[in-house]
Amino acid sequence: MINIAVFISGRGSNFLALLKNIEKGIIQNCRIAVVFSNNPSAKGLEYAVSAGIEIITIPSKNRSDRAEYDKEIINALAEYNIDLICLAGYMRIVTSELVEAYENRIINIHPALLPSFSGLHAQKQALDYGVKVSGCTVHFVDSGMDTGPVILQKTVPVYDNDTEDTLSARILEQEHIAYSEAVALYAAGKLQVSGRKVKILDK
Ligand code: GRF
Repeated sequence: MINIAVFISGRGSNFLALLKNIEKGIIQNCRIAVVFSNNPSAKGLEYAVSAGIEIITIPSKNRSDRAEYDKEIINALAEYNIDLICLAGYMRIVTSELVEAYENRIINIHPALLPSFSGLHAQKQALDYGVKVSGCTVHFVDSGMDTGPVILQKTVPVYDNDTEDTLSARILEQEHIAYSEAVALYAAGKLQVSGRKVKILDK
């Protein structure tokens, strides 16, 4: 059984999808031990509380020393024996402090097909660029911005009449599926990282 910490900053729909899929047995061998947020008013924290999951909040407002901040996170997580950190709409850049403390044990979901459209407002970037296909990427986290090794990607079409909202909703549906698949593979020990490549074993 692996212990997961989910990091959120807002809505928390990816966290909720992971929780539901663990409860349904679609993701096996995992439990969400704690939900961490840098934003004490993150909506997703309410889901955690009602599911009886422990929460930790460390407000990041006015915290300019990112390394110090991440050291506090590491200390706060220590008692939970965390095997995997899932960033799920966590709107803060993680430093090498955290990345090194949890090497190859932090994953993120991004609402575009990386390496295209990294950073903020990925869906709007994709629309503005005029791509015909977009999607989402689950990747290991390194100390760059959305640059770590790709675990899996899902694609969606982009239509002429799409708005940022319609495209985001289409991608979000796939995010919930992709993140659960990636966590299930991780928990089953089926992800092998070698440099930039992630090999999915037994597939
Ligand atoms: C998702 O689109 C995720 O890809 C991005 O932030 C959004 C978070 O949504 N990193 P939610 O909080 O999981 O609902």
